[in-house]
Amino acid sequence: MRKIAFIGGTGLTSMANLEIIRRQSIETPYGMPSSELTFGHLAGHDVVFLSRHGDNHTIPPHRVNYRANLWALHSVGVEQIIAVAAVGGISAAMGPAQLAIPDQIIDYTHSREATFHDGGDQPVIHVDFSYPYSQTLRQKLLEAAQGLDFSVEANGTYGATQGPRLESAAEITRMKQDGCDLVGMTGMPEAVLARELELEYTCCAVVANWAAGCTEGIITMAEIEQTLELGMQRVRLLLERVVVLV
Ligand code: HPA
Repeated sequence: MRKIAFIGGTGLTSMANLEIIRRQSIETPYGMPSSELTFGHLAGHDVVFLSRHGDNHTIPPHRVNYRANLWALHSVGVEQIIAVAAVGGISAAMGPAQLAIPDQIIDYTHSREATFHDGGDQPVIHVDFSYPYSQTLRQKLLEAAQGLDFSVEANGTYGATQGPRLESAAEITRMKQDGCDLVGMTGMPEAVLARELELEYTCCAVVANWAAGCTEGIITMAEIEQTLELGMQRVRLLLERVVVLV
C-alpha cells in the first residue's frame, strides 16, 4: 500500500476515528506546516493527517503555508493525498452537505506562494496541469462511496477564491458562467504544489452552504458549522472505506 495522507480543512481539524500513534513536528525549507503531522491507523491502515488551518483553526486560507504542508508530507514518504475541503455550492446538484469529487479547477487566488519552481539558480520548469486531480484516487473515492446511504457527486469544477471573505453574488454569477460548480478558498495552490512534487492528489469537497446569491438571504457561520457537522460525518465514513482500497 502507498503511504496516504489526509489534509483536513474547516470542520475537520482532527479525526475522531483515527487511532493516533505519534505526532511529529517537521521544519521544511519553506517554514513550518500548519500543524504537526499525526501518524495513525484508520480502519487498520497507516495514514498521516495534517490540519490545514492549524489544530485550533487559526490559519486563514490566504495564510496557509501550502508549500510547507506539501513538502512536509512528501518528506515523510507520503505518495497519495486526499484533501478535504469545505466549499460553497454553485450548481444545482451541489446543495448543503453534498459530497463531491471535483475533476477540474479554476484558480482565482492571488499573492500566494504557488510554486516550488521559483527561479534562482534552478532551471525553469512548467508542470502539466491539464487534469489537476489524480484520476486513480478520484476513482477510488467514488468506488468507496458505493453502497453508502448518501450520494457523492462524481465530477465538478472547483473555483478557488482568495478569501477569507465570502464572494459577492455577482462574483458567483461570473464563476457560474466560467463553469464552476463549487467555490472554496484552499484548493489552490495546494493542488499544483502536490503535482510539482509528483504526489497523487485529489479533493473531497463538502458543501457547507449555497454560494452567495444562490438562495435568498445571506450566508451565516452558524449555517456553515451546522451543515459541516453532517458533511464531515459523511467524510469520515468515506475515508474509512477508501483506505481499504488504495
Ligand atoms: N465560498 C468560498 N469558500 C467557502 C464557501 C463559500 O461560499 N463555503 C465554504 N467555503
